[in-house]
Amino acid sequence: MPLVSMKPVLREAMEQGYAVAAFNLLDFGTTKAMIRAAEELNAPVIIQASTKTIKYFSHKEVYSWVATLAEDSPVPVVLHLDHCKDLEVIRKCLDTGWTSVMVDASELPFEENLALSRQVVEMAAKKGVHVEAEIGQIMGVEDDMVVAEDESHLTDPAEAERFCKELDLAAFAAAIGSAHGYYKGVPKIAFDLIKEINGRTKTPMALHGGTGLDEATIAQCIANGCAKINISTNLKHVFIESFLDYNKAKPNDFEPLRYIDAQYQACKALFKSKIAEFGGTNRAAELLAKAA
Ligand code: 13P
Repeated sequence: MPLVSMKPVLREAMEQGYAVAAFNLLDFGTTKAMIRAAEELNAPVIIQASTKTIKYFSHKEVYSWVATLAEDSPVPVVLHLDHCKDLEVIRKCLDTGWTSVMVDASELPFEENLALSRQVVEMAAKKGVHVEAEIGQIMGVEDDMVVAEDESHLTDPAEAERFCKELDLAAFAAAIGSAHGYYKGVPKIAFDLIKEINGRTKTPMALHGGTGLDEATIAQCIANGCAKINISTNLKHVFIESFLDYNKAKPNDFEPLRYIDAQYQACKALFKSKIAEFGGTNRAAELLAKAA
């Protein structure tokens, strides 16, 4: 089926109390593994790309992989641009048919962030697309941007309320104690803050920094209003390690397709385990029936 918009997918997830897995693609093989994993579990999936990845492959190339695979698939697939502050990249993605974009102006003071985010909301509306936007800076490294612990600050609920009211977002990204990359110590997630923000904004929250959070933490995040959970670092490790492990196990095998397949199977297993953990199994049909 054609690519779907993110807003109705996340609204439904929030209402039903589960989260949709959002994976950062690395190449065509990982993209295919995401869609096959979603099909095997009859689940919706969000396929997202970082600005760095788009600059490497091009927004058109990434769109063509995802749209082609989704077209032949019975599950709802969203194509989303992850953290982006480059309006030109956002514009190109929207013009090419991407069904969701994130503007990340979180390093700017609140009013400037709101103004820039509004500009993107207006650009996206012309294409029937809703936006993910952020306030409060999320810790860690994403797309070569480093936010140190002392630079990040938790999102202010009153600002979140105003931001979401003015922007009518598909997803709201907040700094709630999670971090991009592997956690150095035990993650300190502010569950009460997620709950307060969600209660005020009524907007599905995007949980950034999904790698390394245990099942109980994820379950609490979902119960308090996270309806989109991002996974990137975990995939990067499985992608590289599965390739190296195959070589270690079969050092004399120089058939690339067997390496690619080992990598594909390992990535697909990761995607299935995350989709299931976030509660996405068997949600596709329900979602499509409501959208019809
Ligand atoms: P991780 O790299 O921690 O999985 O976070 C991914 C993310 O939030 C992408 O925006």
